[in-house]
Formats: sequence, C-alpha cells, structure tokens
Amino acid sequence: MVSRRGFLSAAAAVTAGGALAACAKKTSSSGSSGGASGGTNKKIVLGFSQVGAESGWRTANTKSIQESAAAAGFDLKFSDAQQKQENQIAAIRSFIQQKVDVISFSPVVVTGWDTVLKEAKTAKIPVVLTDRAVQTSDPSLYVTLVGSDFHAEGVRAGHMMEKVLQGMSGPIKLAQLEGTTGSAPAIDRTKGFKEVMDTHPDWKLVVTQSGDFTRAGGKQVMQAFLQAHPDINALFAQNDDMGLGAIQSIEAAGKKPGTDIKIVTVDAVHDGFVALSQGKFNGVCECNPLLGPQLMDTIKQVLAGQTVDKWIVTKERDFTQAEAAAELPNRKY
Ligand code: AHR
Repeated sequence: MVSRRGFLSAAAAVTAGGALAACAKKTSSSGSSGGASGGTNKKIVLGFSQVGAESGWRTANTKSIQESAAAAGFDLKFSDAQQKQENQIAAIRSFIQQKVDVISFSPVVVTGWDTVLKEAKTAKIPVVLTDRAVQTSDPSLYVTLVGSDFHAEGVRAGHMMEKVLQGMSGPIKLAQLEGTTGSAPAIDRTKGFKEVMDTHPDWKLVVTQSGDFTRAGGKQVMQAFLQAHPDINALFAQNDDMGLGAIQSIEAAGKKPGTDIKIVTVDAVHDGFVALSQGKFNGVCECNPLLGPQLMDTIKQVLAGQTVDKWIVTKERDFTQAEAAAELPNRKY
C-alpha cells in the first residue's frame, strides 16, 4: 500500500522559486494583490482539472473552487475529467498550450503523472495539487498539495467503528466499500482502516470491493455483498454516497441499516448527515470539500514567490449519531 505521506517530499517546505520565478514575476511585478496582475490589470489565469461529479463531496468541492476563484478575481478555466485520467492529462496539456499562470488539479488516480507534470515544469507553469496526491519520484514537479489526510481518515473511521461496535456480542463480519481503484483516498483510507482492524482479532473483513465513490456503485456492490454474505453486520463505506447506495440495498434485503448492519462512512456531506440523524449511519468522519478559499490563497502565495508548506492539511472532525441532529443545521455542504 502507498500512503500519502510516502508521496510527499521529505522536505517540510519548498519555495515556489526556480522554475516558477518567471511566473511569479508575471503576476506580482505590479505589486498588485487579489486576482489582477501586472499594470494592465490582467487577471491570474487558473487552469483547473476536476475529477468529475461522482459524489456530493465533489459537487460541493467544485462549487467551492468556482466561487472562491471568482471571489479572488481569477480567470478560471474549469475542466471536468469525468473520472478519466486521460481527460485530465488532455486538460493539463491544453492549459499549458493556453499559457495559463497556474495549473491546479485533483488527480483521479495517484500514478502516471510525471510526463505531463514535466511538460508543465518546462513551460514554467506551477502546479498546485488539491484534494488528492500523486505518486512521483520527483516531488519538485508540483509545488504543494492542499487537501485532507486520507490515511488519518481511515484510522479515524476505524476508531469510529470501535465506538459503534462497543457492546456488540458475537463475531464482527465486516464489509468494505472502497473508493475509486488507484485513487489516493481509496488507497490511504483502506490502509488506515486496516491498521485499526488488525488490532481486533474478532473483526473479520469478509468482503471488500470498489464502489467507485458513487451512490449507484455502492448500491450495486452492496447488493452483491449481501447475496454472497447475508450475515454481514458492519460496513465501512469510504464515502457517504456509497454508504447511501448501500442503505438502499440493505433495506431491499429486508434489513435495517444502522441496526442490523452498523455503518461508518467518510465525508459528512448533507445527505450523509441526514442518514446519520435518522439512525441509518452510525458514525461519519468528515472530509472537508470546501478547499477553494485555501487553494486560492495558496496560489496567490505561490505566484508571489512565497514559501509554502509541501502539504497544507485540511482540518476535520468526526460525528456520532448523538451529535448529528444538533449539527445538521450548521452543515455548509
Ligand atoms: O477525494 C475525495 C473523495 O472523492 C471523497 O471522499 C469522495 O466522496 C470523492 O469522490
């Protein structure tokens, strides 16, 4: 397994200098702040390649990026990759051709980026990753990553499962719905959850498969799980949407989600929160999609040639059923 920590450079911080200096000059020589650059009031042009629209999390993330780019005065060139790496690579190449000031993207999978990242570096266009990491032997190919610690989320989900299963008698027969195969959150959440699972000899992972982070995927895979293993009594769904799809299959099988099958998920989007407050989910670990403002601030710093951390980690928390009803009105996504 590859942990996100492993993707990142040993260096705690890097500067956006070197290859990026030209860009910094281009955007900060006028001393302007915000979105305008140069005496001509030229806006910072940001090329952004989004993973797709696979989940409630992604919808909230896209909205956050679009709104905060507008608020920062950036000219945003937004491209939806429909969960295909080749679409992201094509979008990045198009941004390079268009000579954007900065490229940002949330990589659909961790591997296979070096060639296009080298092309961006050659063109002196800084790359700021967001949400998901890449696996590369040359961390200088991107400036920084603004996003969550997915490994920690998997560990937190494991500890949430411990809480949820407390007092339960008999063997624990777990199922896991994994996210998109090869993506950083699927790899790291699986690893983190396993670390906690391994400390419980009475927990048995009877089945694990990808539901591709979608509601339809979660529904379909859970249906197959229940047909093959009708005695499953706990589920770790690596995002809310797959958990919500699983609820439909659990109910169709005549079982009560949250009671007959304990469910822990990651994300804490609105619909997940509703399921938690209805007792259909037992615990939810937050993965905050509202990365836009921090991403735009980071981009401004990078283009101004300032030093930024190699990984700007999102702050998150967990929610139990008892906390859900009170927290629901405060949710922003
Ligand atoms: O990369 C973040 C993950 O991607 C979210 O947890 C999931 O819902 C989304 O599809």
